[in-house]
Amino acid sequence: MVQTLTVLGLESSCDDTAAAVVRQQEGAQARILSSVVHGQTDLHSAYGGVVPEIAARAHAEKLDTCVKQALIQANTDLSDMDAIAVTAGPGLIGGVMSGVMCAKGLSAASGLPLIGVNHLAGHALTPRLTDGIAFPYLMLLVSGGHCQYLIAHGPETFTRLGGTIDDAPGEAFDKTARLLGLPQPGGPAVEAEARSGDPQRFRFPRPLLDRPGCDLSFSGLKTALMRMRDQIVAEKGGLTRQDRADLCAGFQQSVVDTLARKTHRAVALYLKEAPDDPVIAVAGGVAANTAIRAALESVCDETGLRFVAPPLALCTDNAAMIAYAGIERFRTGARDGLDLTARPRWPLDQTSPAMLGGGRKGAKA
Ligand code: KG4
Ligand code: ZN
Repeated sequence: MVQTLTVLGLESSCDDTAAAVVRQQEGAQARILSSVVHGQTDLHSAYGGVVPEIAARAHAEKLDTCVKQALIQANTDLSDMDAIAVTAGPGLIGGVMSGVMCAKGLSAASGLPLIGVNHLAGHALTPRLTDGIAFPYLMLLVSGGHCQYLIAHGPETFTRLGGTIDDAPGEAFDKTARLLGLPQPGGPAVEAEARSGDPQRFRFPRPLLDRPGCDLSFSGLKTALMRMRDQIVAEKGGLTRQDRADLCAGFQQSVVDTLARKTHRAVALYLKEAPDDPVIAVAGGVAANTAIRAALESVCDETGLRFVAPPLALCTDNAAMIAYAGIERFRTGARDGLDLTARPRWPLDQTSPAMLGGGRKGAKA
């Protein structure tokens, strides 16, 4: 019998409180009935990063409202749901706990099954929610908190080909903006400056290209940029608009070149799986960057892969991806009980080595 599932999803692992309702008839394209996201940027902006205690408290306050709004906008109530899916990690533990506690309460009160979802699996499965692509596909997650290459084989089976050993690219864009007095979030600001800059004037490093594999590193770019900036200030007493634009262009070109080269390596590994319809999909806020997108599209043209980029609202943190990943897990027969625990770290690929560093937005895996 064809089974239609309707799932409520909850997300609270970083600085967005979100709830959504997603419905999918087996074998058909999933439909997002509602997706509510309450961002916390204002609460953290004065601190230069997400403050875990503030985030956790704000999630606890906002989750109920988000759930109510998501159910109303979907024109449903809890009795229409088949399950409740919730991000159970990785992320800032206080926030993840707020979501898990809320989901447990709803599950206990309604008798609905509970499904714990890995936040990274939510991102990684989004191209199936939006474009219905088949396994196996190559995934590049690039955001303020994540950066990794994955081959998605199934709803819970991922091979991690590599990832950042320090900062995520969005983090590097944000730090660059801060060093140059540009507003946050830094990505769009740096990209805008880079448009009128000369990427050749300053020679930024291309980190880890001399090493084999798909690992990336972005923290050295910030140090290089700081030195260049300080040298100009020492020589000329300050930065001109053109200096700033050239620094942004040089920095961005380094990120673009590094990602393009590493993506070529990831594609080579992925193609060994001989996929029928080879696809590279991206997720994360950095996927909004036009230069990065263009570079990834050229890699696709050169290697014969299809490029899939979900709409930006579904690339960044949201609960529709959690509800959808919950549907995929539910169909595998997975169920969690009220003993579901919140996990600060939860690598998608348990066989790959642990990632380093906590990151400005919590654990990266
Ligand atoms: O996925 P996301 O919304 O949030 C998390 O990381 O959780 O990504 C936000 C990140 C920020 O670091 C922001 O600066 C970066 O994505 N970003 C960009 C651009 N737009 C957003 N980075 C580079 N270029 C952009 N156009
Ligand atoms: Zn995320």
